Amino acid sequence: MTTIVERHKTLEKSVTLLGLCALVTVAIGGIVEIAPLFWIDNTIEKVKGVRPYTPLEQAGRDIYVREGCYTCHSQMIRPFRDEVERYGHYSLAAESMFDHPFQWGSKRTGPDLARVGGRYSDSWHVQHLTNPQGVVPESVMPKYGFLAKNDLSVPNVAANLTALRRVGVPYTDQDVKMAMADLKAQADPEEDAGDLDVRYPKAQIRDYDGDPKRLTEMDALVAYLQVLGTMVDVNGAAAQEELASEKGR
Ligand code: HEC
Repeated sequence: MTTIVERHKTLEKSVTLLGLCALVTVAIGGIVEIAPLFWIDNTIEKVKGVRPYTPLEQAGRDIYVREGCYTCHSQMIRPFRDEVERYGHYSLAAESMFDHPFQWGSKRTGPDLARVGGRYSDSWHVQHLTNPQGVVPESVMPKYGFLAKNDLSVPNVAANLTALRRVGVPYTDQDVKMAMADLKAQADPEEDAGDLDVRYPKAQIRDYDGDPKRLTEMDALVAYLQVLGTMVDVNGAAAQEELASEKGR
C-alpha cells in the first residue's frame, strides 16, 4: 500500500511526469470518442420517408433563407412536453439531414415551423404571408405580399441540385435532368408531372398561390411550408416501432 502512495508522490512531485501522464490519459479518452467517427458511415439514423426536397420546395426554401424567416422562426421541436404538445412530435435528426444550411434557429419570435406542413390551407398561408395582421391582429410578422407579385426565377435549377448533390443530398441524374420541368410541373396541375411523385414520394402537386396561370415566389414558399415535417409519418405505427427500436439500441 505504502509503495503505491510513495510512487504517486514521485508523480505528483514531477511536473513533467505528471503532465506527460495527464496527456496520455486525456489522449486515450479523446481517441475513444473520436476514432469511431472515422469508421461509421453516418452519424444520423436513417428514417423512412425522408427524401430530398423537390426543386419547387427547394426554391421555396431558398426564399425562406433569403427573407430571413429564420430570424424569427426555429425549425426544431425539442423533446420537452410543452413543445411536443404545442408543435407536435419532436424533430428527428434525419428530418434535417438534407438541409443545407439547416434552419434549426435559436430565436422564436414566432412559433416553431418544423411541423407546420399541412396544418393550414394554402390560401391561409397566402393570406397570412400577405398580411399577417389580418389573420393575427397582434402579429409582429412583416408583410410578404410582394412574393405573389414576383415571378419565380431560378436561373439554373439543375446547377442548384448538383451543388446539393456534392454535399451529400442523393439527387439522381434523372432528378437533375428533370429539375426545371419538375419545378414548373409541381405548381401546375394542368402540366404533365411525369414521374415526379415517384422520384419524390408524397410530393404535393397543385397550384399553391391561388393563381394557376403564374409561377410565383409565393408558390415556392408555400410549397416549402407545406412539406415541413410531413415526410416522416411520426405518428404512424411503423414510425413508432422504428423510434422504439432506436431508443432500445
Ligand atoms: C419579425 C419576426 C418574424 C419574421 C421575420 C417572420 N415571422 Fe412568421 N411569425 C412571426 C410571429 C410573431 C408569428 C405569430 C403570429 C402570426 O401568426 O402572425 C408568426 C407566424 C408565422 C406562421 C404561422 C405559424 C403557426 O404555427 O401558426 C408562419 C407559417 C410563418 N410565420 C411563416 C413565416 C415565413 C415563411 C417568414 C419569412 C418569409 C416569416 N414567417 C417571417 C414573426 C415573424
